Amino acid sequence: MSNPTPATPYGTLPAASPLPARKPVSLPRLAELRERGEKITMLTAYDATFAAVADAAGVECILVGDSLGMVCQGLASTAGVTLETMAYHVESVARGLRRVQGTAWLLGDLPFGSYHESKEQAMRSAAQLVHAGAHMIKLEGGDWTADTVRFLVERGIPVCAHLGLTPQTVHALGGYRVQGRDDQAALTLKRHALELQDAGATMLVLEMVPAALAAEITQQLPRCHTIGIGAGKGTAGQVLVMHDMLGINLGKNPKFVRNFMDGASSVREAMANFVSAVKSGQFPDDSLHAW
Ligand code: KIV
Repeated sequence: MSNPTPATPYGTLPAASPLPARKPVSLPRLAELRERGEKITMLTAYDATFAAVADAAGVECILVGDSLGMVCQGLASTAGVTLETMAYHVESVARGLRRVQGTAWLLGDLPFGSYHESKEQAMRSAAQLVHAGAHMIKLEGGDWTADTVRFLVERGIPVCAHLGLTPQTVHALGGYRVQGRDDQAALTLKRHALELQDAGATMLVLEMVPAALAAEITQQLPRCHTIGIGAGKGTAGQVLVMHDMLGINLGKNPKFVRNFMDGASSVREAMANFVSAVKSGQFPDDSLHAW
């Protein structure tokens, strides 16, 4: 007689996944996806249950973004998030993934102020997120971060860079605006992207960047996978903030977001629809979601 999984309350994360065994996502596997032209999928998650559901839906990369400051903590921007808060959420997500034998690649964001002083400070901060369970850390900024990226990569920490609209510096940028629109700004972005690849970054989030520019940057970075958010369909992968793509807000979603709960009967189905829409090239639609 079969032994059915017992039902448990409070979100139910079975200790062993009922899903068929899958290979863990790793840097070589992400490079393979890129090589064969398959788009990489990423969603943010901040707790054990949503992370496990995203993993079960087939999302390859889970980002514990410092967007949690806005969606979980009610802050006005991401600039107020602390390293301790990031470590707490990375640990919760890593635990959730372990409980379901999840396979996702787990990224943790270094928050504002935790890597700005020195490479050594960045190393100490990154180590806290790695101890909490992150496979890769993400940090925002252009060429001024290249030495830090190199320092971390040489010490065995995979790094995802982040260019374009960098929310930690939203006040300096004058708001949530598209970046790299004029020729000079586009040239600067391309130069920073190359410097970050040379420093060893293996992923690069491009946020709110014109689609043509993001596609060009993607072509010039064979060793660094671009992950777009509001950057058109020409990037190597796509990321959305989970609350945005599930339509959980009281305001108006930015133009680059699609509400994947439309037509879905569960969060897991909405996330699976995101994965298939990205893989099939149906999301983003550059005529609706890009600049
Ligand atoms: O913090 C975050 O969620 C992010 C994404 C918007 C890419 O950086």
